[in-house]
Amino acid sequence: MNATGSRGVRFAGTGVALPPGVLTNDDLAQRVETSDDWITQRTGIKQRHVADEHTTARDLAREALLAALEDAGLKPTDLDLVLVATITPEMTCPSTAARLVDEIGATPAGAMDLTAACAGFVYGLNLAAPLISTGQYQRIAVVGTEVLTQSVDFADRRTCILFGDAAGATILEATDDPDQGCLLQTVRSDGAHWKHLYLPTADSHLPEDPHERDLFNGSLGTLQMNGREVFKVAVQQTENIILETLERAGLAADQVASFICHQSNARILELIRKRLELPPEKLPINIDRFGNTSAASIPLVMHDLQQAGQFNPGDLILFTGIGGGMCWATSLWKL
Ligand code: UT7
Repeated sequence: MNATGSRGVRFAGTGVALPPGVLTNDDLAQRVETSDDWITQRTGIKQRHVADEHTTARDLAREALLAALEDAGLKPTDLDLVLVATITPEMTCPSTAARLVDEIGATPAGAMDLTAACAGFVYGLNLAAPLISTGQYQRIAVVGTEVLTQSVDFADRRTCILFGDAAGATILEATDDPDQGCLLQTVRSDGAHWKHLYLPTADSHLPEDPHERDLFNGSLGTLQMNGREVFKVAVQQTENIILETLERAGLAADQVASFICHQSNARILELIRKRLELPPEKLPINIDRFGNTSAASIPLVMHDLQQAGQFNPGDLILFTGIGGGMCWATSLWKL
C-alpha cells in the first residue's frame, strides 16, 4: 500500500501538441528592442512555438490528449475524468475540459479546469493520484495547455520574449502494484505575490492605488509580470519545497532519477540544480526549444524523457511547478 491509498497509479501514456509556427529570438528582435544574445543569456530560450489566432488552448489540448490515449493504447471512453490546467481558456464557463471531453468522444467522463498557472500540471497530478489510488476512478487524464502568446503584449519586451504555446497530456491509470504511484505531495500558495504575475480582464477589480497594481499598464487582457520578483520567489520556494519533500520522504537528492521542473527560465533551473548539487542530466531543461509554456512545460519534458527511453520501472521522479498566484507544488512518484 502506498501513502495515498491501496492501489498503485502509473503513467499509461503521454502526448504533446505544438503549433507549427515558430518564433526565434531574431524574429522577436525585429519587433521589440532586444537581441538573441540577451534572451539566450537571461532565459536560455532560443525559440518558441506560436499558435495562430484561430487556434485555442482546447485545440492543442485535444491533439495532445488524443496522442496520449494512442500512446497508452486506450480509447477516449476509457477515461473517467479529464483535468485541464490552463490560464488561457477561451471561456471560464464552460470549462475547456468539458468541451474537450465531448470533442474527443469521452462523454460522460467528468471534466474540470484548474487554475494554478505554471504549477497547474503538478496540482493536477496531485489531485488525480489519490482519486485513483483510493479506488474512486480507474483512469484520469491530466492536461496542461496554453496559448500564452495570445495574452502577451508583443510591445512589452519584459514578457513577450519568455512565453510559448503548447499542450501536454498524460493518462494516469490504476495498477495492482501498490508501490507504484504518487508517494508524497505538497501544494502551496501565497496570494500576497499576486501582482507579480497576473492576467487582468475587462472586469477585473484592480486596486485604485497604482503601487498596488504595480506593473499594470492599462493593457487589459495581457500578462503583467514583475520578472525579478517572480524570479526571486521561484528560486527560493522551489528549492525549499524540493528540500522539504525529500526530507519528508527520507530521500537524498541522488536517489531521485529525475527532477522534472516547470521550465520557467533556464537561469532559475540552473540555480536550483546547483543548490541541490545535481548533475545536468538529473534536471532536464528544454526551454531552449519551447520557451516558458506554463502548465504545458512539464509534460513536454516528460515526453522528451520518454522518447529518449529514460524512464525505468522503479525510478523516483520529483515533479515541481511554480507560477502565478503565486502557487507551487511538488509530486514525488515511483514509476
Ligand atoms: O513561469 C513562471 C512565471 N515567470 C517566470 O518564472 C519568470 C521569472 N523571471 C524571469 O524569467 C526574468 O526576470 C526575465 C527573463 C523576465 C527578465 O530577466 P531579468 O534578468 O530579471 O531582467 P530584468 O527585468 O532585471 O531587466 C534587466 C535589464 C533592464 O534594463 P536596466 O533597467 O537594467 O537598464 C531591462 O529594461 O534588462 C532590460 N530588459 C531587456 N533588455 C533586452 C528587459 N527585457 C529585455 C529584453 N531585451 N527582452
